[in-house]
Amino acid sequence: MSPAASGYIDLRSDTVTKPSAAMRRAMAQAEVGDDWFGDDPTVNQLQDRAAELTGRPATLYLPTGTMCNQIAMHAFARAGHLVVCEESAHVGGMEISSSAVLSGIAFRRLGAPSRGLLTAAQVAGALTPDPYDVTVVDLVTIENTHQVGGGAVMPVDDVAAIGKVCADRGVPLYLDGARIFNACAVTGAAVADYAAQVDAMMFCLSKGLGAPIGSLLVGDGEFIREARRLKVLFGAAWRQAGIMAAAGLIALDESPGRLATDHANARRLAEGVAATVPGCLDPAGVETNIVFADVTVTGHSLAAWVEALAAEGVLVTTVAGRVRMLTHVDVSAREVAAALAGWRRAAAALAA
Ligand SMILES: Cc1ncc(COP(=O)(O)O)c(C=O)c1O
Repeated sequence: MSPAASGYIDLRSDTVTKPSAAMRRAMAQAEVGDDWFGDDPTVNQLQDRAAELTGRPATLYLPTGTMCNQIAMHAFARAGHLVVCEESAHVGGMEISSSAVLSGIAFRRLGAPSRGLLTAAQVAGALTPDPYDVTVVDLVTIENTHQVGGGAVMPVDDVAAIGKVCADRGVPLYLDGARIFNACAVTGAAVADYAAQVDAMMFCLSKGLGAPIGSLLVGDGEFIREARRLKVLFGAAWRQAGIMAAAGLIALDESPGRLATDHANARRLAEGVAATVPGCLDPAGVETNIVFADVTVTGHSLAAWVEALAAEGVLVTTVAGRVRMLTHVDVSAREVAAALAGWRRAAAALAA
């Protein structure tokens, strides 16, 4: 039986959401064509909408955030050259094997002073030219919000400072903005404010925005022309993709405005978990929809906690040695309260 069907509260990711009724209707009614030929009117509409939202001239609708990242790195970085990233960034962590296989890229991974957020000074240090020309950096990447950093938000000014360092050194800057709308919900900035600071970026429709599938790669015309070629090369000429793009358009209309609710729910969840398991997290550090808890402070293993929580109807995952939970459109304040009751029962069961 699937977790959703059997009534679990699913906090494993913000990707577990189901399409809304409006999305389902739009998908059923979508006008479609063969996207390989650029003929899908709904995909084209979504790409135009993304261009309008980001203020950038060219965009490309792709199946996943990973594919956006991989295509961007392939376009910007030569095999054997380096990409700078934060040490727990998605590109240099979950995707490290992908970029090794697809592009022959190596990473210069930097430990951030706080919650995954690189500083301009760190990036400047990483771009100091190698006097022997052996290590060459082709690209700098940043992630906002930072997932393993606990959904940490980088303000626009900090992105701009990194962008200036990169521009001074002639190295492009790429933003993995899988959850950039979450960052905007906190800073009050527009996505375009972030997009203006970088050479290229991506954002996901399939995370906090609640669409079933899809991400947008954004940049200038030349970059997106090459990205379009790489999309076909990587096997993502996905034909009548308008059926998915239709849900993406609804996601862009209905979701950014409700992310603050996910953030408030995450803070409430964090406060409750901290009360149940003292010392496992600081609720004040929860800025967006991601909560990490170091449950090993209890002396019980991560695996024991995951199992105990699942037995009480709460699904979580583990990342970087901690329990990870994400709030999303399918988790209401009531479900947060129920999840916290599950946490209390799990704690009692483990203590027994
Ligand atoms: C920060 C970040 N970037 C990229 C991705 C990859 O997105 P996708 O799962 O759509 O490939 C994720 C997925 O969790 C992510 O958290």
